[in-house]
Amino acid sequence: MFDRSVKIAPSILSADFANFGQEIRAVEAQGADWIHVDVMDGHFVPNLTFGPPLCKAIRPHISTVMDVHLMIAPVDPYIDAFADAGADVLTAHLEAGPHIHRTLQAIRAAGCKAGLALNPGTGIEDIDYLLDMVDLICVMTVNPGFGGQKFIHSQVEKVRNLRAMIGDRPVHIEIDGGITPETAPLMAAAGADVLVAGSAVFKGGSVEDPAPYGENIRAIRASVDTP
Ligand code: DX5
Ligand code: ZN
Repeated sequence: MFDRSVKIAPSILSADFANFGQEIRAVEAQGADWIHVDVMDGHFVPNLTFGPPLCKAIRPHISTVMDVHLMIAPVDPYIDAFADAGADVLTAHLEAGPHIHRTLQAIRAAGCKAGLALNPGTGIEDIDYLLDMVDLICVMTVNPGFGGQKFIHSQVEKVRNLRAMIGDRPVHIEIDGGITPETAPLMAAAGADVLVAGSAVFKGGSVEDPAPYGENIRAIRASVDTP
């Protein structure tokens, strides 16, 4: 049975970069469902983070799902390296190149679940022919590149429309950017099931004092559970 229950995926973009292993173990112990890994190339987005070697290094510390969000262009030359690094879900942007269909095929051929990410300015009109080749659609609720940005409200309607479009297909809707206990319930009601949150999960805590991570995760979950 396809799991459409709400899952919280902390983004390690907001973790201590000198301490990824411990940070990941801490948020998982505090209730994280997936771990979201933001890969940026300084070209597709105006920021640089890390690549396959870092993903491989942190993989043994992840016991849930390694959800790798590629904000890179081109994508195809790097798919095998991220698959070898242990990505469970590998998400590419529709805007990253002209051949997203080929990219999604290659991701599945490499043994990963295929994710398709859409920038806030991108509509869902052109994705009909991709719906049967994706496992997840990531609706960006900020312009990709940085943590801690403000939620873009126009994306609520987009998620609602996307949810109707997906119908019974086993496709997750992930939302990414500006997710807090205030914005999460809007998106869960619209049909999102994977909630990525960076600053709202990691704020106030550390590996020495991880309890705030748990409080932050529970606050997001409670905001969604409350009718
Ligand atoms: C933005 C990244 C997000 C980001 C979310 O480009 O894709 O995953 O880390 O961070 P917050 O939750 O702080 O907006
Ligand atoms: Zn992301």
